[in-house]
This record gives sequence, C-alpha cells and structure tokens, in this order.
Amino acid sequence: MCPLSIGVGPPVFQLREISLYLPERRIEMSAVLKHHDFSMPNGPIAGPSAWYGPDMAVKEDWSRLFSDEELAELDTAMRNISAKGIGVIDITRENFSLPKLGSVFAGIRHELLQGRGFMLLRGIPVERYSLEESAMIYYGIGVHLGHPVPQNAKGHVLGHVKDLGYHPDDTKVRIYQTTARQTFHTDGCDFVSLFCLKPAKSGGLSSIVSSVTIFNEMYKRRPDLASTLFHPLAVDRRGEVPEGYKGYFEMPPFTWFEGRLSTYYVRRYIQSAERFDDVPSLSGETLEALDFFDELANDAELRLDMEFKPGDIQVLHNHQILHDRTAFEDWPEPERKRHLLRLWLSPEGARPLPEHFIPRYNSLVSGDRDRGGIHTPGQILNAPLEAV
Ligand SMILES: [Fe+2]
Repeated sequence: MCPLSIGVGPPVFQLREISLYLPERRIEMSAVLKHHDFSMPNGPIAGPSAWYGPDMAVKEDWSRLFSDEELAELDTAMRNISAKGIGVIDITRENFSLPKLGSVFAGIRHELLQGRGFMLLRGIPVERYSLEESAMIYYGIGVHLGHPVPQNAKGHVLGHVKDLGYHPDDTKVRIYQTTARQTFHTDGCDFVSLFCLKPAKSGGLSSIVSSVTIFNEMYKRRPDLASTLFHPLAVDRRGEVPEGYKGYFEMPPFTWFEGRLSTYYVRRYIQSAERFDDVPSLSGETLEALDFFDELANDAELRLDMEFKPGDIQVLHNHQILHDRTAFEDWPEPERKRHLLRLWLSPEGARPLPEHFIPRYNSLVSGDRDRGGIHTPGQILNAPLEAV
C-alpha cells in the first residue's frame, strides 16, 4: 500500500487547476517517490489478464463481428448526427443513441477492465463511408466505451496514425507519425483504440502481449530483475510538457497497487530521457531488466499478432497490455496510404492508480474526462479529419 495516499485532497488531480496547485504537487511527488512502497507482489499473478499469445490465437473469442442489424443501428446513429449538423467532437452517448449496442459496449468495457484486456471489433463497411462518416461511427462507438482524452499537445481527441515522413529518432516526433517499428509499449491512458481505414502495402502488423504474463515470467526466471522494474525511471515527454512540469516524468515500469499490476512502459522514451542533464544514466542492472522485459514481450510464446483489415477496431487496456507495430512499406499513391484513426479513452470503472501516476495521468479519478492523455498549456480540444 502507498502510505502517502492518505490525506491528499482531490483538487491536485485536476489539470485545469494545475497552476493553483502545482507547487505543492511537485513537493508531493518528490515525497511520493521517496516514500512509496515500490515492492513487487509475493508471487505470480493469476486470472484472465495473465494470458499467453498461442492460447489466444486458437480461441478468437476476443474477436467480434458486427451483425447486419448492429451495423444498421450504427448507420442510423451516424445519419442522425450528420442530419443535425453535429460535429465529431460533440458526439455523446446521448446523441449517438445505440438502443441495443449500448449494452454490448458496456459488456466489452467490463471485459477490457476485468478480463483479458483486449478486443477486436470487425466489420464496419468503411468502403461505403466518407472519412467523416467513418470518423463519426468510430467516435460514437468510442464514447460508449469511455471519454475521449487528448492524444497530443495539439489537443486531438481523434488521432490519425499515418506516416508524416518524420524520423523516429527526432525527439520532437512521436513514433506513430513514422513508418518505423514501434517496439512494445503502453500509451498514457486507460484504453487505446485503433480503427483501420487503409492497411499498408506490406508490414504494419499489430502485436500485443500481456504485461501481467511478462511480470509472471520475470518473477519465475529472474525475480531480481523483476524487482528492479518496480522502481521509477525517467520517461521523455517528447516536448509535450504540461504546465510547470519538466520535459520528463518519473514512472516505474511495474506498479503494484490495491491488488493489481499496472504497467507503464515506453523503452524509446526511457532511453531518450537520458538527454536531460539531471537524469542519471541507466544502470547496468536496469538495462539488463529492460532487455529481459523486451525479450519476453517479443517471445512468440507470449505475444499475439494480428493483421488489421479495413473496418477493424482494436481496443486495448493499457495497464495490462503492451502493443507494438511492425515497420511498414506504404503505397506510393497518397489516397492509398496506410491510415488508422485512434482514440484514447477514459472509461468509467477504471482501476485505482497511485499518486505517482499524477504527472502522467493528470487525474486519478476513475472515468474522469481529464484522466490520461496529453495536457499542455492553452490546449483546445479538437477532432481533425486529416493527419496534421
Ligand atoms: Fe501506442
């Protein structure tokens, strides 16, 4: 248990009040990092979140095809929104009414939070829709799973995963804007979802792995290295810095809190945080632990690969699932280029998180509109209909 979780009032959790509370919060964080109990659980973790890829590959109960009736319900909801002139960003659970599918999405949300932590929804006929119509359907599904939160400093609540011709080592660039292999990582929000509009010419496959299983395997084979990863490491913010914070934040890859293991892991950004003068170089033991973590994530006995088809929607629970994407070769024609839409969501019923998540998650309140995502000064939320 975290001894400092007692007596911290709710105002410090709200980004929009950050300038009022930041000085105390910064002191708070250093105290948390000093006194929080960063020990690991006493054994492997059991339950549906601890899955192995080969078992999942033959099950496929994590994949769900929309029926014709369900597609008609989504189509009707989208046309109602369109007829009323409601923009994507103004779509809500109330105005994107789904009389039957609403309860289906509530069940999927529960499965994501309490079960294996991933889902693939298939069959949206994107070839029949304009980009805006597809975006409306996707965002409408999204709001039934959680509140969309901003994915970058520009305040995008609808993201576009597309190659913008950048280099992955540029510290102002996020990897989703390149064709590079991503390496296994988590995003800074409870749920991340991708909606495939156009696949690549080749490559660009999705891989996911259970971070609970990674911990279990590390615990069994190298408990010394597993224990190392329960201690905070600096993580580069890649230039997207909330008001008053440094260009990096400190987060342990593994956190054990209130009986649940939460993983936050972006190896590229841990490495690039070493560019800051006040960040110490990674120790030999930490590097060995990170290498072993990556080795397990990439192990074919642990990970699950999937290929997106147009119309596929993947939803992942970041605290228990890592994701990766292989490098890809794109089509030469601009209109055929690989294009995925993305949502970062804050679902009701989300797990409790300890205070050291505040610098990254902003709010710890389950289902809060400000929990997770990227929050920067002067940011205005928007849902662009092209990659910008
Ligand atoms: Fe990601």
